[in-house]
Amino acid sequence: MTTPPAILRLENISFSYPGQGRVLNNLNLEIRKGDRIGLVGPNGSGKTTLFHIIMGLLTPSSGTIEFFGKPAKTQKDFRQVYKKVGLLFQDADDQLFSPTVLEDVAFGPLNLGKSKPEAREIARNTLERLGIAHFENRVTHKLSGGEKRLVALATVLSMEPELLLLDEPSTGLDEKTKAILVGVLNRLELSYILISHESDFMSQIANAMFMMENGQLQKDVHIHQYIHKHPNPGQRH
Ligand SMILES: Nc1ncnc2c1ncn2[C@@H]1O[C@H](COP(=O)(O)OP(=O)(O)O)[C@@H](O)[C@H]1O
Ligand SMILES: [Mg+2]
Repeated sequence: MTTPPAILRLENISFSYPGQGRVLNNLNLEIRKGDRIGLVGPNGSGKTTLFHIIMGLLTPSSGTIEFFGKPAKTQKDFRQVYKKVGLLFQDADDQLFSPTVLEDVAFGPLNLGKSKPEAREIARNTLERLGIAHFENRVTHKLSGGEKRLVALATVLSMEPELLLLDEPSTGLDEKTKAILVGVLNRLELSYILISHESDFMSQIANAMFMMENGQLQKDVHIHQYIHKHPNPGQRH
C-alpha cells in the first residue's frame, strides 16, 4: 500500500515583511492525518505569520506549499484549499462579520454550496457542540471576548475542515469554556496545529510539540523544555 500524501507540506519557506529581517527562514513542515501539533515560541517569533503563509494570506519569498500532494501558489489554488483547511484567527474580530451569530456560523457552509436551511442546521449543530446554542440570535459584535472566540471557532468548524489552524484559541476563555474546547478538539476527527502559551491546555490536546525559533521549526520539543527556557511566555506583549 502506498502512503497517502501529507495533508500539508512546506519546503524551504522564507518570508520577510517589507524592510525587515527574515521572520521565516527556510522553514520545513509536514502534517499528516491524525497529527495534533502544539506550536510554541516567544511572541514575535513568527507563529501567526506561518499560519498566514499556509492560508495564502501572505506570499513567501521562496519555498513551496503543497496540500494533499498538490502545489498551492495562486489565489485560485488557495480557494480550493479553504474547503479543507480552516484558520481560527488570533483576533476573533478578524473572523466575525455577520450581524448575528447564526448568520456568521452559517456563512461558511452556504459558501460551500449548502442550501440555506442546510447551512442553518449545520450552524445550529455546531453551536450546540460548543455549548453555545443559546447564542444563535445574539448580535456578534456585542459578545464578550471569550464568547467571540467560541463563535469564531464555530464558524471554522461548521466548514468541516480536515486541517485546522488554531491561533491561541484559549486566550480569554475561562476554565469551564477551556474544558469544553478540550473536549471538542479531542472528539474531532481532524488534524490540527495549535498555537498556545498554556502548557496544561496544550498537554491535553497535542500529540507532538514544535517550537518556532530563528525562523524555523524545532520538532518534538518537550513542553517543559520550552516553559523552562521561556518562563513567562505569555507576558511579553
Ligand atoms: N503586518 C506586519 N507588518 C510588519 N511586521 C509584522 C507584521 N505582522 C507581524 N510582524 C512582525 O513579524 C514578526 C513575527 O510576528 P508574528 O508572526 O505575529 O509572531 P507570533 O505570532 O509568533 O507572536 C514580529 O517581529 C512582528 O512584529
Ligand atoms: Mg501570534
